[in-house]
Amino acid sequence: MLREVVDRIQKEQNISREDLALLLTAGDEEIACLKEKAREVADEVYGKQIFIRGLIEFTNYCKNDCLYCGIRRSNRCAERYRLSEEEILSCCENGYALGFRTFVLQGGEDSYFTDEKICALIRKIKAGYPDCALTLSIGEKEKDSYQAYFDAGADRYLLRHETADEAHYRRLHPAEMSLVHRKQCLRNLKEIGYQVGCGFMVGSPGQTVDTLYEDLQFIRKLQPHMVGIGPFIPQKDTPFGAEKVGTLEMTLRLLSIIRLLLPRVLLPATTALGTIHPLGREKGIQAGANVVMPNLSPVAVRDKYLLYDNKICTVDEAAECRYCMQRRMEGIGYQVVVDRGDYREQR
Ligand code: SAM
Ligand code: FES
Repeated sequence: MLREVVDRIQKEQNISREDLALLLTAGDEEIACLKEKAREVADEVYGKQIFIRGLIEFTNYCKNDCLYCGIRRSNRCAERYRLSEEEILSCCENGYALGFRTFVLQGGEDSYFTDEKICALIRKIKAGYPDCALTLSIGEKEKDSYQAYFDAGADRYLLRHETADEAHYRRLHPAEMSLVHRKQCLRNLKEIGYQVGCGFMVGSPGQTVDTLYEDLQFIRKLQPHMVGIGPFIPQKDTPFGAEKVGTLEMTLRLLSIIRLLLPRVLLPATTALGTIHPLGREKGIQAGANVVMPNLSPVAVRDKYLLYDNKICTVDEAAECRYCMQRRMEGIGYQVVVDRGDYREQR
C-alpha cells in the first residue's frame, strides 16, 4: 500500500494532501520503503558522492526579529560579532586547503555590510579561488542588490521561504515581515540566474500537514536547485524558547519526499539534524540528502552564531569538522568529494 504511494509520487513528481498525511503518520517500519526509494533516486543522479560546503557565519547582527531565531535583534543575550574581510578570506584559505570548493557566506541582515562591501568581498574571494562556487545567504534584498552580487561573481543564493502558508508565516514573524516579499525575492534570484535554494524548518510552531503541503507545492512550482530543511530547535532567549523541538523522523520523511519530488535537487543533511540526534546527518543522507555543510567559521565566534540551543561543532577547528564528516560519510558507504558540487541538469 505505502509502496504504491511512494511509486506514484516518484512517477508523477507530485504529491496529494492525502498521500502526504499518510506518509507523515505511517509507522516507522512501514515507512522504510520511502527512505529506500529516495536514496535510490539520489544514487542514480549523484552516485555515492557527497558534496561539502564550507559555511562561514560572518555576522550575527540582524535587523529582523523572526520569533524562532537566536540572533533576532531583540535577543539581548546574543553576543554580537562581525568577521573582518581578512578573517573571512582566511576562512576561505583554510577551507580551500581542506578541499572545500564551495564557500557559503551566511549572516543576519546586517546593514554594516553594504552592497559595496559585499561585492568587494565576492570579487576578492572569486579572484583568489576561481575554481570555487560562492553561495550567499544574507536574507531579503532589493533585486538590484542581488543583481550586483551576481555580477560581482556570486553563484548561488540560499533563502529559506520558512513556510509557504500566509497565516503560519505571520505566526513565525513580526508584522513588518512579508511572505509575499520573501517569495518574490526567490523568484528574482532565479530570474537573475543564481542557483537558488529555498526551504523551511520541520516542526516549527503552528506547522501542520496543510502548511507542509503548501510548502511542497511551493517548492514544486519554484523548482529550486537546493532545498534546505532541518528541525526547528528552540532557543531559550526567544519567544519560542519553550516550544517543542522538531523530530528526526519527520525531518527524514520530508527529506525523502523532497528527493522524490525533485530528483536532482541539492539537499543538505543539516547541522540542526545533527544536533537533535548524534547520527542525524548520516540518517539524512540515507533518506536521500547529498550535501553536508561543515563549519569554517573561526572557533572564537562559533559559539556566538547560536540560532538554537545545543548547536554542535562549536568548539572544533574547521579541519576536525571536515575530517569528522569524511569519516561519518565513509562509515555509511559514501565519499566526500573535492568538487564545486553544482546542480546536475538533466542531459
Ligand atoms: N539571514 C539569512 C536569512 O534570513 O535567510 C540567513 C541566516 S538565518 C539564521 C538561516 C536559517 O536558520 C533560517 O532560514 C532558519 O530557517 C534557520 N533557523 C533560525 N532559527 C532556527 C531555529 N531555532 N531552529 C532551526 N533553524 C533555525
Ligand atoms: Fe535575522 Fe535570524 S532573525 S538571521
